[in-house]
Amino acid sequence: MAARAFLLGGLVALLGAQDAAATEQRQLDYMLNCQGCHLPDGSGNQQRQVPAFPGQLGRFLNVPGGREYLVQVPGSALSGLSDEALAGVLNWMLGRFSPDQLPADFKPYSGAELHQWRQHIPADVAQVRRDLIERIAQQAQQTRQGN
Ligand code: HEC
Repeated sequence: MAARAFLLGGLVALLGAQDAAATEQRQLDYMLNCQGCHLPDGSGNQQRQVPAFPGQLGRFLNVPGGREYLVQVPGSALSGLSDEALAGVLNWMLGRFSPDQLPADFKPYSGAELHQWRQHIPADVAQVRRDLIERIAQQAQQTRQGN
């Protein structure tokens, strides 16, 4: 019994350590590939039209097309990251910068899911973004009106 508890305890500790290592790897991927433009705190750079993530990023997942957009935006899609690594960084960013805006039924990205999306970058990213921001605003208004 004691041995079993010991083994289980060891397993839990090992899984915890693996989680921590994965999180560290995601943060490192962000630092090396994204932070140059998006900054360590995700606040971006208005003058260079780099949007701020905090309190905003998760909102895209609440409107149709938003989940794809976060993958297809050039900074994501054209990064040198593998599909798995990109999925990991996006999940990390959402949890780090915008946890309160995530939909209740949020499912983390997987590499397989974003593989296809990544191959098709919209010709006019700025227009896609404007449409999504519009949908987000409409949705917020509907929520306020209670319908
Ligand atoms: C060269 C600067 C640059 C780098 C590097 C960069 N991005 Fe971006 N990112 C932008 C800009 C500019 C936008 C605004 C949309 C556009 O014009 O592409 C953006 C938008 C985004 C968005 C959508 C947020 C919104 O509010 O529209 C996501 C998600 C994103 N980037 C993820 C990443 C990830 C992940 C990485 C690293 C793998 C990365 N970016 C690297 C410049 C960059």
